Amino acid sequence: MDYTKRAPIKDRFKGNVAIVTGGTTGIGRAIADELCKEGASVAITGRHEVGAEKEMGDAGYDVTFIQGDMAEESFCEKVVAETAAKWGKINYLVNNAFSFIAKGMDATRRDWEIMFSVGPFGYAKMIQLVAPHMREAGGGSIVNMSSISCRIAQVNRWTYNAAKGAVNQLTRCAALDLAPWNIRVNTVSPGWIWTREVLKAAGGDKEKYDPIWGEYHILGRCGEPVECAGPTLFLLSDDASFITGTDLCVDGGYNAIGSEGLGKTATFAGSE
Ligand SMILES: NC(=O)c1ccc[n+]([C@@H]2O[C@H](COP(=O)([O-])OP(=O)(O)OC[C@H]3O[C@@H](n4cnc5c(N)ncnc54)[C@H](OP(=O)(O)O)[C@@H]3O)[C@@H](O)[C@H]2O)c1
Repeated sequence: MDYTKRAPIKDRFKGNVAIVTGGTTGIGRAIADELCKEGASVAITGRHEVGAEKEMGDAGYDVTFIQGDMAEESFCEKVVAETAAKWGKINYLVNNAFSFIAKGMDATRRDWEIMFSVGPFGYAKMIQLVAPHMREAGGGSIVNMSSISCRIAQVNRWTYNAAKGAVNQLTRCAALDLAPWNIRVNTVSPGWIWTREVLKAAGGDKEKYDPIWGEYHILGRCGEPVECAGPTLFLLSDDASFITGTDLCVDGGYNAIGSEGLGKTATFAGSE
């Protein structure tokens, strides 16, 4: 099976408008691509121009790129205002962009501030800004990108893991408060996914490291960005109409596995 491809559901999001923050690369880009394939108009953001808008436009997608930093409140306001002005409504938000400052004992106050400024602060700001538009549209759906790191301890990861934990709590509280407007809010928590940071950590050698880091997951491999897109689109869609305030683990079984890992050194077989 080719894990880098999925079969889109034709026209599922036709006529609807989505914002995907950090939609230029990695998981966000895969989500934006799949939303477009299913008929949505999509605004993507990123701090750098990497040609995503052109590539997606060339593929025939209705997309716009808004360049800036989600840590800035004024930029969040710009993203929502420009999206609403271009298409007249906003139905979906995927809060995906996130800082990656992984520090522990050595984290400074500034590190903490930078880490939290995109998510959960920026995530919360975006939710505040899109909610009135979704209410006007009769409802909407929001997915906040979290991580396996939201609930576990990892070495030297105080900042990142605490910020992801906060994203899950923000999600639950926002789900409760926005339900009267028919807006659902959920998180997706990926395991190790082959995007640029993971590839960099592997020195570009995916073939070597996939089975090594794959051992953290029941499926014995790391995931592909598009494998996060399908579950995210499901949560955005009406198929998830009775799902809110929850966390969908897209982690190849990372959370289900115990300290014995894949069992390669576990020898106890039990007795009659
Ligand atoms: N890959 C994994 O193994 C993994 C696992 C669990 C969770 N996640 C989560 O999945 C999400 C996406 O990660 P990824 O691995 O796909 O990362 P990625 O490939 O590095 O993509 C990150 C995207 O976010 C944008 N971005 C980052 N900081 C931003 C900011 N301050 N303002 C605006 N845009 C910003 C990036 O563009 P610019 O750099 O140009 O701004 C890019 O478009 C994150 O929330 C991450 O925590 C990833």
